[in-house]
Amino acid sequence: MRTLIKNGTVVTASDTTKTDVLIDGEKIAAIGSGLATGTDQVIDAENRYVMPGAIDVHTHMELPFGGTFASDDFATGTAAAAWGGTTTIVDFAVQSYGQTLRQGLDQWHKKAQGKAHIDYGFHMIVREINDSILKEMDALVNEGIPSFKLFMAYPGVFMLDDAAIFRAMSRTAENGGLIMMHAENGGAIDVLVKRYLAEGKGDPINHGLTRPASMEGEATGRAIALARLFAETCPQYLYLSLDDLGRPGFEGAKYVCSPPLRPPSHHDELWKGLLQDDLQLVATDHCPFHFKGQKDLGRGDFSKIPNGLPGVEDRFSLIFHGGVNSGRITLNRFVELVATAPAKMFGLFPRKGTIAPGSDADIVIFNPRVERTLSAKTHHMNVDYSCYEGMTVKGLPEVVMQRGNVLVREGKFQGVKGAGQFLRRSPFHGVPASEPSPVGARS
Ligand code: URP
Ligand code: ZN
Repeated sequence: MRTLIKNGTVVTASDTTKTDVLIDGEKIAAIGSGLATGTDQVIDAENRYVMPGAIDVHTHMELPFGGTFASDDFATGTAAAAWGGTTTIVDFAVQSYGQTLRQGLDQWHKKAQGKAHIDYGFHMIVREINDSILKEMDALVNEGIPSFKLFMAYPGVFMLDDAAIFRAMSRTAENGGLIMMHAENGGAIDVLVKRYLAEGKGDPINHGLTRPASMEGEATGRAIALARLFAETCPQYLYLSLDDLGRPGFEGAKYVCSPPLRPPSHHDELWKGLLQDDLQLVATDHCPFHFKGQKDLGRGDFSKIPNGLPGVEDRFSLIFHGGVNSGRITLNRFVELVATAPAKMFGLFPRKGTIAPGSDADIVIFNPRVERTLSAKTHHMNVDYSCYEGMTVKGLPEVVMQRGNVLVREGKFQGVKGAGQFLRRSPFHGVPASEPSPVGARS
């Protein structure tokens, strides 16, 4: 199948050009004008941006948390992602306590296979470090899972101590892996949580108050001291705040995530960080829980509210709207933040993350003039609320393609369950072998 996308404005991380794109099978074959011979399908992209399919390198489909599971599985979550212009996710496989990394990974392959509508890779959440797990990390790097998530938070659930963290970092310095870090001081936070609950402070706002920015700063500093740093942020940290967590009644539970939302004054600083490359990419940390039946496990005790927010469908539009429409970032920086930098950082470039001959034909045709209102009534994520309910954004991913196949067009979903492929990612090559691997942190 050969498809010609005509008359669009092709936007990559470096260039903006009015030109055509020819797709042959699953790949981009050529970019230029006068390519129109022998095509099966022509898509007119006049007055639209033709962008690389976005990559979300931080999702948690079906994550077990707080006695329940994130409500999107690989079928619903990846369909929602495609609706929103995201054509690749990198999800977090979880090692269960007492299990090998391999067992956790096998479980995640089973969750995704036959269900994913879009391509996917895995990071591995490591919950224990010992000699045999360090060896397994080498094996995983070699089979396309070169990034490992460690937690400095959630004692008794995910948290590792500094010795384990340092051993894992040292190993990735040798094997080409990349450490990603959830940087919050879990021990100190736990003391605060117990103190607040003992004082009868059970409302959702206390989730934020017991996880102060200073404790995130402390852990981030510790992580930096142990390694070099890259950083991501997520739409919720750019749009939402402690005020949402403090909404009356139990409404704030919808906004419980970790690290928690901060005062609104942080927003401008984070946008500045994205502009100046102190923050290198935007992911979502998509980890939805229904308000009714899941978030309400923590009514009266905020520490029992499952942590996480929905976002995989909204990232593209929210960052375009708040970034490009508001003049904070350029079109090219937008593409870099949502597609190109994630692909480069996580071993998927140039197969993914750009529009170039030879790259996968993962393409979003984006209409920047369409205004729409975000709402749980119209979103496709399997969750009963939207964090952005009623917010108007300008810009719509009208056509979304993966490897030359149309997933979304004219408001209809044409994706195929199970068509998403597992992506073996390359090891990290960003630093000389003699230096420690960088560590990722969230903001
Ligand atoms: O609140 C969040 N972020 N939930 C998902 C688990 C994690 O901490 O990444
Ligand atoms: Zn996460």
